Amino acid sequence: MKKNFKIFAGSANYLLAKKVAQNLGVALGKAEVVHFADGECRVRVEEELGSGTIFVFQPLCPPVDENLMELSLFGNTLKRNGARKLVAIVPYLSYARQDKVHRKGECLSAEVVAKIIEASDFEKLITFDVHSEKALSFFKIPTENLSTLPVLAETVSSIFRAGKEKADALEDCAVVAPDKGATGRVQRLAKALGVKVVVIEKDRDLLTGRLKIKGVKGEVAGKRVVICDDMITSGGTLVLAAEFLKHQKVSEIFACAVHPLLVKSAPQDLQKSAIKKIITTDIIPVPKEKRFKKLEVVTVASLIASAIENNL
Ligand code: R5P
Repeated sequence: MKKNFKIFAGSANYLLAKKVAQNLGVALGKAEVVHFADGECRVRVEEELGSGTIFVFQPLCPPVDENLMELSLFGNTLKRNGARKLVAIVPYLSYARQDKVHRKGECLSAEVVAKIIEASDFEKLITFDVHSEKALSFFKIPTENLSTLPVLAETVSSIFRAGKEKADALEDCAVVAPDKGATGRVQRLAKALGVKVVVIEKDRDLLTGRLKIKGVKGEVAGKRVVICDDMITSGGTLVLAAEFLKHQKVSEIFACAVHPLLVKSAPQDLQKSAIKKIITTDIIPVPKEKRFKKLEVVTVASLIASAIENNL
């Protein structure tokens, strides 16, 4: 493959960016990212950019706003230094949950993020398993929403297959959408596994953030289930869904989620939960202190590398 492209990475997930670059047989572009004492950031490109496409890799995980600003400054400096085509690879697009004005008086944050990225001279955005496709509708530049669920499906199916004949490994299994909004998204996992989807009916109080389960659409009793979500933030959704499913007499509970934010006591709560194993990706770094026994982190470096190849 002709290596007429470069990949730069902000500090959000440098390790994964490095793996992606290694997959493509290139080194990451040289840049300096400095954070001053007052929190301000400065980015400086330290190499010639050539004439190929320049990719900037930066998931918008915590510190969300800092990472967004870094991405934005990368766009600015790369354009000023002669980049011809700039593509933002933002595998986790934060603010996508704020895709509408939920209550009178609120800002439309997803629209603001789209404007910031566009104003930073990016000509395309590539993301993975975005929370809401609507958040992408605010972009005037082309966007691509790819999915890591086929990779997660491979891990789930090898867990299900362990100790079983291939033919009956997925018998009596179901994929669980933890809320109505997740139904479309989880179809991808269900399709890859060849099993049915059941949907939990959940309500979240917008003021308190408290969750309440009202019921489930579909048969779960006696089944091995895998709850599939786009992200784990506090872990509340998964813990509550698992508790509910346990009372519905499922035989085993697994979970998979693409973006492991794992804030506050999520690792401890999930370790204590009724879930047997939780599979996630390395899109967001999971430091040692957030790792727990039931968590398995699967790399999606080669999937992201393919996305880059397809955009050359
Ligand atoms: C909600 O609509 C999302 O898809 C996730 O279910 C939610 O953000 C997960 O958050 P938590 O882990 O805090 O329940």
